[in-house]
This record gives sequence, C-alpha cells and structure tokens, in this order.
Amino acid sequence: MRIAVYPGSFDPCTNGHLDVIKRASGLFDKVVVAVLINDAKKPAFSVEERAHMLKLVTKELGNVEVRTFSGLLVDFMKSINSRIIIKGIRAVSDFEYEFQMALTNRTLYDELETLFLHTSKEYMFLSSSIVKEIAKYGGCLTGLVPGDLIPIIKSRFENAKPGRL
Ligand code: PNS
Repeated sequence: MRIAVYPGSFDPCTNGHLDVIKRASGLFDKVVVAVLINDAKKPAFSVEERAHMLKLVTKELGNVEVRTFSGLLVDFMKSINSRIIIKGIRAVSDFEYEFQMALTNRTLYDELETLFLHTSKEYMFLSSSIVKEIAKYGGCLTGLVPGDLIPIIKSRFENAKPGRL
C-alpha cells in the first residue's frame, strides 16, 4: 500500500491545503495529513483544533487520515511505514525552503521521496497567515477556507483579546 504523508502546521487549513489533500488522495492508496505539534510557534489554534478542522473537511475522503506528530518528520514517516512526503508549492519563493527541507529529510532518511504538487492557480496567493490576517480584521473568508471552518475561525478571532493573536 502506497501511503503518502502531507505534513504541515495547518493553522488553519485553507482551501489551498484541501485542494492538495484531494489531489493527493486520488494519487495514493492512503494520505496521512500530519499536523505538527508546534506550541513554540504560538499557533492561533491548538493542535487538537487544527486536527479537528482537518477531520471535518476531509470526512468524505475515505483514504485520508489526520494524525498529529511532534519531533522530526522522518521519525513520524518511519513510524507509519511511509516513504513519500507531499508538499504543495505555490510559487518559486516556496521552492527554496521546500527544497532545503526535502534534502534535509532525505539526508536523515535516505529512502524518502518528497513530491511537490503545484498549487491550483486560484490558490497561488493563499496562506494560513493571510487567512488569519483577514479574520483578525473581520474580513470575508468565503472561498479562502472550507465553508465549515468559517464560523470556527471567525469565533477564534472575535473572542481574541486585542493584540493576542
Ligand atoms: O505548514 P508548515 O509550517 O510549512 O509545515 C512545516 C513542517 C511541519 C512540514 C516542518 O516544519 C516539519 O517537518 N517539522 C518537523 C521537524 C522536522 O522534521 N524538521 C525538518 C528537519 S530539520
């Protein structure tokens, strides 16, 4: 069985992420969406909230599983017997960092392959940071994140104390 892993912070999941997940789910027997437990980065959503949102938007995709991980990605890959990392690339500016990560991961675990899926063109500009910026100022999130997530994201920012998120 070919298991691919799509790792990330997903703080929060955007339509760009979901597009990559859907396309990857058509290419592999199973796709594990791996949410990094990265409290040091002070995410807007806890790892449980990020995983919950991903489960919500992937519930119709039978071969997609959402997991959380901490530590090195290569150790998580070994623990689930996967050798394929999926990364989404939006523009050339993403490539340099992703290429460095791919080579680092390959150095740590030489059986790994990192496969880059280009973003769909309507999501080239989109990132979790942009979504958070818009939500912070009460802007419209339609088309940027899956519809089910809009109330969850909005309520986080409505309830945030000024200057906190
Ligand atoms: O969505 P992001 O924040 O760009 O995702 C980054 C992620 C989670 C893929 C990356 O930070 C990661 O793999 N972190 C785990 C630690 C690790 O293995 N780092 C690479 C070798 S130094």
